[in-house]
Amino acid sequence: MKRTLGVCYYPEHWPEAQWAEDAARMADLGLTWVRIGEFAWKRMEPVEGTYEWGWLDRAIETLGAAGLKVVLGTPTATPPAWVVAKHPGMLPVDAEGRVRGYGSRRHYCFSHAGYLEECRRIVTAMAKRYGRNGHVAAWQTDNEYSCHDTVLSYSDAARDAFRDWLRAQFPGAGNDGDIAALNAAWGNVFWSMDYDDFDQIGLPNLTVTEVNPAHAHAFRRFASDQVVAFNRAQVDILRAHSDAPIAHNYMGRITDFDHFKVGADLDIASWDSYPLGFLEDRSGAGDAHQRAYARQGDPDFQAFHHDLYRAVGREGRWWVMEQQPGPVNWAPYNPAPLPGMVRLWTWEAFAHGAEAVCYFRWRQAPFAQEQMHAGLLRPDSAEAEAFGEARQVMAELAGAPDVEVAQAPVAILFDYDADAAWAVQPHGAGLSYFGLVFDWYRACRKLGLSVDIVPVTCRDFDWYDLVLAPGLMHMTDDLKTALEAADGQVIVGPRSGARDAHFCIPTPLPPAWPASDLAVSRVQSMRPDMPLDVAGGGQVIGYLEQLEGGGDVVMSTEDGAPVAVRCGAGTIYVGGWGDDTAHMRLIRDLAPTLTTVEMPEGVRRRATGTEQFWFNYAAHDVEIQGEIVPPAGVKRTSL
Ligand code: GAL
Repeated sequence: MKRTLGVCYYPEHWPEAQWAEDAARMADLGLTWVRIGEFAWKRMEPVEGTYEWGWLDRAIETLGAAGLKVVLGTPTATPPAWVVAKHPGMLPVDAEGRVRGYGSRRHYCFSHAGYLEECRRIVTAMAKRYGRNGHVAAWQTDNEYSCHDTVLSYSDAARDAFRDWLRAQFPGAGNDGDIAALNAAWGNVFWSMDYDDFDQIGLPNLTVTEVNPAHAHAFRRFASDQVVAFNRAQVDILRAHSDAPIAHNYMGRITDFDHFKVGADLDIASWDSYPLGFLEDRSGAGDAHQRAYARQGDPDFQAFHHDLYRAVGREGRWWVMEQQPGPVNWAPYNPAPLPGMVRLWTWEAFAHGAEAVCYFRWRQAPFAQEQMHAGLLRPDSAEAEAFGEARQVMAELAGAPDVEVAQAPVAILFDYDADAAWAVQPHGAGLSYFGLVFDWYRACRKLGLSVDIVPVTCRDFDWYDLVLAPGLMHMTDDLKTALEAADGQVIVGPRSGARDAHFCIPTPLPPAWPASDLAVSRVQSMRPDMPLDVAGGGQVIGYLEQLEGGGDVVMSTEDGAPVAVRCGAGTIYVGGWGDDTAHMRLIRDLAPTLTTVEMPEGVRRRATGTEQFWFNYAAHDVEIQGEIVPPAGVKRTSL
């Protein structure tokens, strides 16, 4: 498949007289896609029930006439003031009980029925008008669900919907749920927390001390389901009026809802990639690492999300819907990328299978919140630095062979429910499921391995030499059996199978692996400044479990405590959170069929069906296969 480029454009920000020239320049650059519309509700419907489509008709026509394909966004991330005035209860409420006000975006609670109706109405009107428009070649629902921490809302609407959701989880006679079953499942006998009725159940915020983790986890599951339902309502409408594929633009390290479940209703997964912003505000990396990669981004963060969203997209279809083009406005510090990085990020996305990469945004806005955010053009319409890099990618695409996505030799399971469980009960400051999985991912990549990320609904692991399933706090027996039957090496733990479906410690003790007596008999989390040395090299950081039973010990601490133990025919249980050295040792020792090569600092490799791509994230030259590759350099070799 030929990979394509696109851009995010806001016709409503610019005089209409400028649109045709903009469109011509986009086409001249070679762009295929232009995403528009996702924040323009007020322009589409200035007052309730009065639609003004004329400007959008003309914008789509102008872009389409220039040969561009339009991705049309539904505008539900930015309800206008009149919608909020009509439904004051739709505003989200934060965990401190404060209403989050009007004046930016994403100011809605997913559970508010009145707001959902407004969304259905505007999406229906759009779908009817543009569903068969030949220039509208794809749709985007809303914009970045959960961005700005907007999935968990503690509003009255959320509370009422949560009670109904719980009734359905614990069905009883008639319409009411079985409150005794909920009390038993959650262990509400503790601290006399038993409820008499579902209407006594509040939201898990503003309690005197910690809330029951079962309650907190159920609330996160509920909140995730609300996002799925909200998105599905839009998808159902769009599908009734249009055959164009539907996407949503997810984010980096936002895990507050189950992307696999949202993705199941969509055709394309896309995500918004801001490598420098993410390094500063969500990579969790230490100061030295942030300094070393301040102008390049973390060498694994983008790739991780590319692999994740390839799994979320139906049949592996995924895009980068927004690609950072220069300094952004929203991270603690906002440096400019090294020359060449925009090109590198683009090629890296293609190497991981992206169908399209769209830059955010066409022209830097001279007004409002994102004045400090670069675009392909400066506010005066002159070319900004990234423009030339996009032009270079276009030229390279023209002469390059197509990228053929191939199955990787390593699979890592990723589960949003496990992430929620760790968020509820990290057991140590700074410990997160995402962090644990990402550490394993990085260890694979430092060994030059390509990785597939797969959901916990996957049952066929036979293609993989190595399957990694760390931190899955709740595991079904069915999943354990499927992993145990895998042909390749399986590594699970720590905390795998540590909780039942309602957040209680099961017995027999975890991991309760099929046909193994291995048991986690005690767990401890550790201060960051108290790592434990592992015999033979590496350390255990953050988390260590005491393991009893099982088969051979394949890794232990210097003091002789087992860290990794055989717990089935092809499964190793790792009872600690290792550092990169420990993880890399386990990968190499346990899966010797893998072809590993230790990467030079900052270099990463990605294999496609026919080629290898090498990406130099380091700020200095590196030697790759006898060739000097400069910073931000990309090298392609055939397999
Ligand atoms: C994204 C968002 C865009 C824009 C961009 C700025 O998160 O979808 O609308 O705000 O960030 O970097």
